[in-house]
Amino acid sequence: MAAPLALTDAEDPSFAELLALRPHLSLHAMDGLVMEGVPLARIAREVGTPAWVYSAGALRRRARALKSALADAGLTASVHFAMKCNDNLAVLKVLAAEGLGADVVSGGELRIARAAGIPGPAIVFSGVGKTEAEIRLALAEDIFQINAESAEEIAMISAIASAMGRTARVALRVNPDVDARTHAKITTGKSENKFGVHFDEAPAIYARMAALPGIAPVGIATHIGSQITAGMAAYRAAYARLAEMVQALRAAGLPVERVDCGGGLGIPYRDEPAPSPEALAGAIKATLGPLGLPVMLEPGRWIAGPAGVLLASVVLQKRGASHRFVVVDAAMNDLVRPAMYEAWHGIVPLSAARAAAPLSPAEVVGPVCETGDTFARGRLLPDLSPGDVVAFLDAGAYGAVMSSTYNARPLAPEVLVDGTRHAVVRARQTHEELLHGQRVPEWLAT
Ligand code: LLP
Repeated sequence: MAAPLALTDAEDPSFAELLALRPHLSLHAMDGLVMEGVPLARIAREVGTPAWVYSAGALRRRARALKSALADAGLTASVHFAMKCNDNLAVLKVLAAEGLGADVVSGGELRIARAAGIPGPAIVFSGVGKTEAEIRLALAEDIFQINAESAEEIAMISAIASAMGRTARVALRVNPDVDARTHAKITTGKSENKFGVHFDEAPAIYARMAALPGIAPVGIATHIGSQITAGMAAYRAAYARLAEMVQALRAAGLPVERVDCGGGLGIPYRDEPAPSPEALAGAIKATLGPLGLPVMLEPGRWIAGPAGVLLASVVLQKRGASHRFVVVDAAMNDLVRPAMYEAWHGIVPLSAARAAAPLSPAEVVGPVCETGDTFARGRLLPDLSPGDVVAFLDAGAYGAVMSSTYNARPLAPEVLVDGTRHAVVRARQTHEELLHGQRVPEWLAT
C-alpha cells in the first residue's frame, strides 16, 4: 500500500526551502521566524508553549486562490470549508468573510458554524452516522444540503422532515470506487470504505428518494479521500463516473441541480508534488463541465493546513545510546498526525542563529509515555538548548481539532495573526477545566 505521508529516505528540504513555499513565514536575523508581521517568539513569550498560531493572510490568500481557480475555469461553484480540519471561530470568521460556507459533520460543528456567522443556507452536512437530533437541527437551521450516505439514512431524513413539516434538500453521496492513492486511514472512495452508497446502486436509491415525502433530491456528492497528491487521475475518474450518473438520472426524468465534488486536495508537507487548485478546477471542468450544473467543493486541508504552525519549546536534549533526542513540550496529544499517519511536518527553529548552525540528525519527541509520541526521526536539526522554540509547519489543518488531553495535558491555546496584529482566539485550557465535570460518587467520598 502506497503511503505518501510516510517518511522516505530522500533528503529533507532545508529550512530555506520550506519557508520559500510558505510566504506568510520568513526568517529574520533579529526577530527570527516571523508570521506575517509578528515574530513568533513574541507569541511564544506571551502565551507560552505549546501554542497553535494561524495566519489570517494565508487563509485569505488560499481561499481566494481556490475561488478564482474555479471561476477562471468558468465554473459556477460554491466552496464549503471542511471545518473538521479547523473549527476555530476566528478562522471561520476569516473564511466566511471570503464568502466560504461550511461543510459540517456533526451537530457540534453546525453550531460552531452558525456561531461564526455562517448562514444555514451556506452549510452542507456530511457524515455516515448523523443522529436524529443532528438531522432535526440541520432542518431547523434550514441548511443548504444534507449529504445522505445510505438508503437507511434517507428513510430517517424523510420521516424527520415530514414530522417537522419541512422539506430536506438531500444529495446522495456516491462511492465511485476509485483509489485516490492516499494514506489507508484517510482514503474514502473505494468500495470497501464505509462512505456513501455503491455506484451501481445509486440510481435506484436516488429514484426511490425522489418519491419520498419531506425530501427534495438536489444532486449527488462524493469525496474520494484526503491529502491527495498523486495527480488528478483519481479525481477525473470519480467525476467522470458522477457525470455519467447525472446523465442517467436526468434521462430517467429525475431532478439533479448540482454536484458536490468533495475535498481532498493535498499539500506538500515535505516535498510532495503539489496539485494546484487550477488542476482540480480543470479536472472538474473537463468531466462535469458539460452538464452545465453548479458544483460544490469541500476543501479543508488545502486552505488551512499551510496557514498554521504549532510552537513548542525544547525541554531538554538528551543523548541516547544511538540517538540524539530533542524532547519538546508539545506531544502526540497536541499534534497527533505523525503518530497516527506517520506524517512528516517541517520543524524550523525560531532563532535565525539556530537555523544557520550546523545540523545533525535528531529524534524529535514529546513527553507522553508512548514510543509513538515521536514527531520526527533522523531529522536534521541544529544543537538545541532548553527554552529554544521550534515551529511545526502545516499544522493549521487536523492539528488543534484532533488534540486530546491524554496524560492530563491541557489543550494548547490558539492565536490568530493578521498583519502586525495578533490575538489569542482560544485560551489555554486550565488544570481546573481539566477536572471540571469529574465527580467522585458519594460512596467513595469519605
Ligand atoms: N469532505 C468530506 C466528506 C470529508 O470526509 C473530508 C475529510 C473533507 C471534505 C475534507 O478533506 P480535505 O480537503 O481536508 O482533505 N485527519 C486526517 C484527515 C482526515 C480527513 C477526513 N475527511 C489527517 O490529518 O490527515
